[in-house]
Amino acid sequence: MDSWPSHSPSPAAARSRGHGASNASKRWGILRRALLDRSSSSRALDGTSSDHQIKHNTNNISRKVSRGFNLIECHPLPISQLVKSPGNSINGNENDFGCQKDVYVCYKLPGGGSSKLDLVYRREDSLELNDIEASNRYNIDTTGLVCCWPSEEVLAYYCIGHSDMFRSKKVLELGSGYGLAGLVIAASTDADEVVISDGNPQVVGYIQKNISINAERFGETKVKSMILHWDKEQASEILNTFDIVVASDCTFFKQFHVSLAQTVKSLLKHSATSQAIFLSPRRGDSLDKFLGIIKENGLSCEVIENYDHTVWDLHNKYVAGEDRTWPNYDKEHCYPLLVRISSVSSIS
Ligand SMILES: C[S@@+](CC[C@H](N)C(=O)[O-])C[C@H]1O[C@@H](n2cnc3c(N)ncnc32)[C@H](O)[C@@H]1O
Repeated sequence: MDSWPSHSPSPAAARSRGHGASNASKRWGILRRALLDRSSSSRALDGTSSDHQIKHNTNNISRKVSRGFNLIECHPLPISQLVKSPGNSINGNENDFGCQKDVYVCYKLPGGGSSKLDLVYRREDSLELNDIEASNRYNIDTTGLVCCWPSEEVLAYYCIGHSDMFRSKKVLELGSGYGLAGLVIAASTDADEVVISDGNPQVVGYIQKNISINAERFGETKVKSMILHWDKEQASEILNTFDIVVASDCTFFKQFHVSLAQTVKSLLKHSATSQAIFLSPRRGDSLDKFLGIIKENGLSCEVIENYDHTVWDLHNKYVAGEDRTWPNYDKEHCYPLLVRISSVSSIS
């Protein structure tokens, strides 16, 4: 990844920039200290100055994005309400809930029905050393733990508006983070099966929790989580099996462009109706470079700027300053373009 996604910066991020150090260099500092301190875990546990410094730096890194398109109504959910709902317990064990580093959010899905989804996220200030160590071990970043990024909500909203396209289909979400879009597809369409995947095992832990919490909301749709790293060889049983692949904000990791394109190519069914739908902000030249690699791999694609009038109107209002609810809105980094990818030459 060339640069950290820079949506509207959090106050913490703004503070950290004010101190003159880039987020990237702070992150490397944390990683370096994590590695140096590994041999003396007691020092890390007893709150020595080194540990305090790590915590201070960790807290100053830009994480949760409080801004977004706010297309799907949501509110914080007290843990008591979550556990008391019938069916909302993981393996019947209430101890799986109420972890201090987590928060719960209830989404009310648009469409007039009473469809809801409850999601568990990491709390804004709870990125930990072991998250960074794990990301190092698995060659994966921690962006999936940071928050549900604005493009994910747009993808979820788009899927609700195009629910017919998922009927009886086998769907895969790549790099899903907490999995809002995959969960929305599972809860509000008649998809046959939805696989929600990410390459970071800690993120997949959250996906699985979110599937378990909402298990009664998926009707006949089968839903599962999967650790799927684009750089690894994919299991033979999933090759050439998906009708629809979706992903949001996954094209800014340039070092994974080739493996992401090949993953899409190898997992999509070779049929005229199968397609991948990506929602991605441009982020400098990263989206264009990814599109070039898509074509080099024999896939075809089209980029659609105005794919939903509500999202487009909001975007124009943010740009014009007529809506000030998303200060520092920056089209390049905040507005996701819709990319449709197909393994055959024309997309219907
Ligand atoms: C910016 S986050 C987007 C997460 C989610 N789609 C969203 O928009 O909220 C990028 C996601 O891609 C995942 N990711 C990054 N590199 C990956 C790789 N090589 N293989 C699989 N997943 C990867 C990260 O773990 C993270 O969850």
